[in-house]
Amino acid sequence: MCGIVGFTGKRQAVPVLLEGLYTLEYRGYDSAGVCLQVKDGLKTIKTKGRIKVLEDKIAGQGEISSTCGIGHTRWATHGAPSDRNSHPHDSMDGRVSLVHNGIIENYLELRSRLTEKGVEFKSDTDTEAVAHLFASHFHGDGVAAMLDTCRELKGSYALAVICADNKGELICTRHDNPLIVGIGEGENMIASDIPAIMGITKNFIVIDDGEVVRVTPDRVEVFDRNGAPVTKEVQTVNWDIEGAQKGGYDHFMIKEIMEQPKAFKDTVALRINEKGLPDLGAEGVTGDIFKNIRNIHIVACGSAYYAGLAGKVALERLARIPVIANVASEFRYSDPIIDKNDMCIVISQSGETADTLAALREAKARGAVTVAVVNVLASSAAREADHVIYTWAGPEIAVATTKAYSAQLAVMYLLALEAARQRGEMSDEQAASYCQSLKEMPSLIEKTLEVSGQIKELAQLYYKQNDAFFIGRGIDYMAAQEGSLKLKEIAYVHSEAYAGGELKHGPISLIEDGTPVIALACDESLYEKQISNIKSVKARGARVILITNGDFDIDPDMCDHVVKLPKCPYFMSASLSVIPAQFLSYYIGVFRGCDIDKPRNLAKSVTVE
Ligand code: AGP
Ligand code: GLU
Repeated sequence: MCGIVGFTGKRQAVPVLLEGLYTLEYRGYDSAGVCLQVKDGLKTIKTKGRIKVLEDKIAGQGEISSTCGIGHTRWATHGAPSDRNSHPHDSMDGRVSLVHNGIIENYLELRSRLTEKGVEFKSDTDTEAVAHLFASHFHGDGVAAMLDTCRELKGSYALAVICADNKGELICTRHDNPLIVGIGEGENMIASDIPAIMGITKNFIVIDDGEVVRVTPDRVEVFDRNGAPVTKEVQTVNWDIEGAQKGGYDHFMIKEIMEQPKAFKDTVALRINEKGLPDLGAEGVTGDIFKNIRNIHIVACGSAYYAGLAGKVALERLARIPVIANVASEFRYSDPIIDKNDMCIVISQSGETADTLAALREAKARGAVTVAVVNVLASSAAREADHVIYTWAGPEIAVATTKAYSAQLAVMYLLALEAARQRGEMSDEQAASYCQSLKEMPSLIEKTLEVSGQIKELAQLYYKQNDAFFIGRGIDYMAAQEGSLKLKEIAYVHSEAYAGGELKHGPISLIEDGTPVIALACDESLYEKQISNIKSVKARGARVILITNGDFDIDPDMCDHVVKLPKCPYFMSASLSVIPAQFLSYYIGVFRGCDIDKPRNLAKSVTVE
């Protein structure tokens, strides 16, 4: 999430830090700030809002001479976007200042421990605890203090610190969050990614998890988690700044596709407790909230609705609760049968979609318990629902959702497991075993991303086709609908998603020689039925791309291409099977010359009815 920069050298730090922050803007943020080493200590300036506001605020302070400082753009996770929650966060004596990207999972425990020792907190963030913790460990050696601090942290973080007493020195580290060091001549930088250092250098080193770095104008020293020195390879950027803003990717969409393992992991990590069981206690979705629920209504639009459909499969099959899923624009005018005995789950990346908000209000007015699954912190849906479960996908910039959809699926699985446990449909043992699978999903998603090359070749074969079909049964049908939407919105290809068994009731008449059919088969209990459906389209001339985790024999009567996926519990399989469809839409869109990140007629947040 968001961005970190730091500079140490001989020139003035403020312009370098601001330029670095501007290049990180694309990552999305809600606040910004800097801390500078000045003659008699540290000076922290921070604000809610855009970097321009920060720039004006700095200018308003008159001449500030400093050649070493840190900067931050924040995408709030803990505590609303506000001046006081913005980073950097300073120690009580103002001699240490710190910026952080990520989430500190054990911040409440750290906070209460530090409060007992007399620390007074000024913000609601998880980060501030780390600033005070570092200060408590700091006795002159920044590297030693950072190593001691990290031993006490749980969660994901990139951290950068400056201390008033160690002039010209930046201390940084990372765990599950990016951080690089730009190597200049007599000046060095740290940053979350490459564009931010390109104002001073194209040479950089990548910091690995657990490493702690001391950066001064003439030296960069890297240590492992035991404090032993590490030698790093210096790499050189070979692309221009414009390309670099997407982290080296051609489009935000492909970058965000590749970020799905992290989005899933961050969303799940905080919600599995020490016993290995689902835990939505922090969100209030706890106790026996599901116990006496009559129906669950899932309401959303577009991809969020398709994530809801996958959630319906999990909730009904695992927790045995009837689930009614509806698109928000239909729900709100349907005089819905919903009252205090029901729960309404709305799903939205932006949290601002007009129809989804209206549906949420409707459900609330009729007395239902409302739960919002939302990506953007403090958005309207998040504020208005009784309970909010954030997806920690980070800022999503491409109009077509990929990583937020993945994170929404992760939340739906957690909800289904929690509901199943509460209703006595699942033992703790079973739930723990599924939670273990949830923890393993990010690496399976990572593995699935390796199909990219194969799918690119398929896209090359099929990009001129103007029609396509997606078919699947059960959970595969839900994933097929999302895949089909992606192809429509990104590549402008007319595409239909059908339940495998429904084809013969009409749409099969549209299958002719060469019609591409993308067939999903990831639920073992439905393989056979789906294979029959696939064979019936193949027999009518379709060119079939089979996406499956099955080990069954594949013959030429069945398909033209096979995309193999890793196995996972059937109700989680949409998290993997959607990936080939995302790549296919992306590459077909690229080959057709489409505007990938801003498809025609679409907006990221649809705030009109
Ligand atoms: C997804 O790729 C779409 N652009 C669209 O369907 C989107 O999912 C829908 O508009 C809902 O948006 P929301 O998640 O912000 O509510
Ligand atoms: N969790 C921290 C906060 O809410 C950092 C968020 C970020 O990565 O910007 O302040």
